[in-house]
Amino acid sequence: MNDKKKFYITTPIYYPSASPHIGHLYTTVACDAIARFKRMQGCDVMFLTGTDEHGQKIEQKAKEANVTPKQYVDEIAEKFRRLWKYVNVDYDRFIRTTDDYHEESVKKIYKTLLDKGYLYKSEYKGKYCTPCESFWTESQLDSEGKCPECHRDVKEATEEAYFFKLSAFSERLEKLLTETDYVQPEWRAKELVNNFIKPGLEDVCVSRTSFSWGVRLPFDEKHIAYVWIDALSNYITALGYENGKYDDFKDFWPADVHMVAKDIMRFHALIWPAMLMALDLPLPKKLSVHGYINFNGIKMSKSIGNVVDPFVLGERYGVDAIRYHILREMPFGSDSDYSNEIMINRINSDLANDLGNLVSRTVAMAVKYFDGTLPSEREEGEFDADLKAMAESLAPAVEKYIDETKLSPALTEIMTVVSRANKYIDETAPWILAKDPAKTARLASVLYNLLDTIRICSALLLPFMPSMMPKALEQIGAGENDVKYENLSKFGVLSENVTVKKGDVLFPRLDVETEIEYLNSVIAPKKDGYKEDEDLDKANVISIDRFAEVKLRTAEVKACEKVAKSKKLLKLQLDDGRSGRQIVSGIAQWYKPEELVGKKIVFVANLAPAKLCGEVSEGMVLSCDCGDDVRLLTVDNEVPNGSTVR
Ligand code: MSP
Repeated sequence: MNDKKKFYITTPIYYPSASPHIGHLYTTVACDAIARFKRMQGCDVMFLTGTDEHGQKIEQKAKEANVTPKQYVDEIAEKFRRLWKYVNVDYDRFIRTTDDYHEESVKKIYKTLLDKGYLYKSEYKGKYCTPCESFWTESQLDSEGKCPECHRDVKEATEEAYFFKLSAFSERLEKLLTETDYVQPEWRAKELVNNFIKPGLEDVCVSRTSFSWGVRLPFDEKHIAYVWIDALSNYITALGYENGKYDDFKDFWPADVHMVAKDIMRFHALIWPAMLMALDLPLPKKLSVHGYINFNGIKMSKSIGNVVDPFVLGERYGVDAIRYHILREMPFGSDSDYSNEIMINRINSDLANDLGNLVSRTVAMAVKYFDGTLPSEREEGEFDADLKAMAESLAPAVEKYIDETKLSPALTEIMTVVSRANKYIDETAPWILAKDPAKTARLASVLYNLLDTIRICSALLLPFMPSMMPKALEQIGAGENDVKYENLSKFGVLSENVTVKKGDVLFPRLDVETEIEYLNSVIAPKKDGYKEDEDLDKANVISIDRFAEVKLRTAEVKACEKVAKSKKLLKLQLDDGRSGRQIVSGIAQWYKPEELVGKKIVFVANLAPAKLCGEVSEGMVLSCDCGDDVRLLTVDNEVPNGSTVR
């Protein structure tokens, strides 16, 4: 029997129609690094990823392409597999929600939910777009309340549907979020409690009859399973839950880590645990939620053209540099900002200057002073103890961070030891020792200490940079035993007479200007991302007099709250330098009320007052579309409230 410790980690399953960018890469590369680390520790790892292939959108796209949905997904499903292969993601299992065994399990899951009384039939009310044959929720409509796909009018419509009794799990979910560390970081759990549980959990509509591309409910065939129930189930169906394809459920469930980005947190923190509770199954141990990788502060979006293509970066800088960069830059739980400058500087400072240099200098000195093979003589000296202590305590520190899914601090910890080793070279000055034959033993000790520190650091970096670190280890003459996990918290494991082997530069130093020019030409936001807007601007010019009719002024947000009965609206109380005014704005999707208090904004002061959801709005605040995001236009704090904007 295999009695290794089991470790099960999952990524979200990707929509095959998405164009993969480095934002998509983050979750999967992070899971890959953790999975590799756990394998190195001797665990029996199951690392699952896959594609989420059902739903109305796929059905529509297939129709446009004049193929069946199955033909359409078969054609594009390979996209993500190719990407994972390219970036060295070593998953153990890949699930497609169109796999027969998965569909079989989803049907059984629905039947169990029905039998246990957690599904009931009712009516789904929504906004219906007749030309697109699509239902939309209020929050999905465009800014004018029209269909987000074709921008035509929508009408209220109802459809028979099954509902999942999410509300029945409210108390247990609140406990899960407040009394356990299921959701990480903790502040994300608080967000969920305040935004969803406190206002009252609503039951979820989990079947549709307006399209057909999905799993048919076994007890009512005109109904198609809701894509999220279908998709979330993958985490257990992939282990063989309620199907005969695999037999891993008893070994690997509950999952150790589900990793997701913030936008899909609520499905994983509310619906998924509630489903498992309803099915009487144990809950996953951890939901690790990370932020977005934005491009220069703006969400990546195909229409702006600011999506960063992993293949383009990988070809030019190597896949490991990209893996390192995204894992190092992402702070735990919040967003990280990608910019071409940050990436080039990060590669240069950490990989070329610190790590690459440490390896090449040390190996070059061992070759120059000892023909590549260290002699047996040793002489301990000043600075040794500090370096050894740091190197020996590194693996436990990294392990702790890996267990907390905090990859950036894990990397920082390793790079701190790399920097310490570089400092050790300056402190011990091997080139001076080499001039004095009486110092040979000391010189050998210094080089050995450096090589053994590199052994520990490179081995701990293997999960993060699986193609370059074996090369580093080869250069310093490390063998299989030297990289065993239990040997990474011991100093002095490399053979006494280790032989180094000079190799290629691991991470060449990049010329910042050349690279930025190159990157700006290939992945900076393309002007034609705004082409449609430009054409519209030209077709709709207005005179300066007309513009002057619009009175714009600055104000400070003094208080802000949600408008009852609306998911979109926030009510802002402004200090406009006069008697104050109230403005209602459709930005609830992008801002929490408390985030706005204290912001200095610009508003239209002479707009006719309007009533929105029963609240009077005296004007309009200005905001900017940033891809799929919306940001308020803000002004410097020094600008007095009520200043005219011209
Ligand atoms: N199919 C659903 C997941 C179902 S899981 C049961 C889905 N797919 S997705 O292809 O749209 O997204 C996959 C993952 O990539 C999600 O976690 C999503 O949030 C993440 N990201 C997409 N853009 C991102 C960034 N710019 N930055 C970081 N992660 C991002 O959602």
